[in-house]
Amino acid sequence: MELVLEWKDVTYTYPDAKGAALAGMTLRIPRGMKTAVLGHNGAGKSTLFLHAVGILKPQGGRVLCGGKALDYGRKGLQELRRAVGLVLQDPEQQLILNTPREDVAFGLRSAGMDEETIRQCTESALERLGLQELADRPIHHLSLGQKKRTALAGVFATRPEVILLDEPASYLDPASEKLLLHSIGEIHRAGVTVVMATHDMNTAYSWADWIVVLDRGTCRMEGPPDQVFVNKELMEQLGLEIPLIVDLWESLPAGLREGRAVPRNKEQFKTYLASHLVNGGGVI
Ligand SMILES: Nc1ncnc2c1ncn2[C@@H]1O[C@H](COP(=O)(O)OP(=O)(O)O)[C@@H](O)[C@H]1O
Ligand SMILES: [Mg+2]
Repeated sequence: MELVLEWKDVTYTYPDAKGAALAGMTLRIPRGMKTAVLGHNGAGKSTLFLHAVGILKPQGGRVLCGGKALDYGRKGLQELRRAVGLVLQDPEQQLILNTPREDVAFGLRSAGMDEETIRQCTESALERLGLQELADRPIHHLSLGQKKRTALAGVFATRPEVILLDEPASYLDPASEKLLLHSIGEIHRAGVTVVMATHDMNTAYSWADWIVVLDRGTCRMEGPPDQVFVNKELMEQLGLEIPLIVDLWESLPAGLREGRAVPRNKEQFKTYLASHLVNGGGVI
């Protein structure tokens, strides 16, 4: 497993805060995967991400990108920002110019590209995220979901190796959330490692290939979803919900589950049920 980002025993306390936001955080993000970062409010998700882009610097421990300890000098940080993109929870804090087309181009311009490359990268990012129709609309006329996709397009256009999304689904209606998740999938298909902070266990279970569970500034568990979510005891202890699919699966008689992987999504579960339920009741 090749790692793109790593935190090794990282500690960080905000100025004037009582407790540590990161209290010996050790976790790994595999390259090429879709990772979900889980944890309640205050668990340290946003602080973790701010360390990945060098906005915050560990007071103890180390952060590594591509196996190398971060270099907090001017050049080192410039390189880091090319490799790691962060999409903030609130798009208002990320969008600067008047329209999606201008805003995406602005991000590329500050990365120092020539105008023709800027034009090409802007158009390809807008297209990939289905924003062409909205490209020249004033950003303040866009819905929250559209603003979030614009912010994502801006980060994606610079082609980082990894994109971190801080609770991208927050405050979205289900339709906009679905569209945004589709866009995130597109970005992953384009070869970018994607990391998403969320507290939606169901989305995380079906979406992610790798899960990290944070609690009070530490990482309590990391691994593939079917291994993490079967640890009911720890999930309960942390007050985290078991994904509906895992819960339903575990309610089936043990004999029916033996030797089988837990279904990853509703479709897999339905397929399983359809092939095992006969005559509306009997189970084979
Ligand atoms: N700017 C800040 N100043 C002081 N404390 C902060 C600040 N930001 C976050 N914290 C504290 O750090 C801890 C971790 O917060 P955060 O990383 O935002 O968690 P999450 O994103 O998982 O909700 C919390 O206790 C929070 O109150
Ligand atoms: Mg947060």
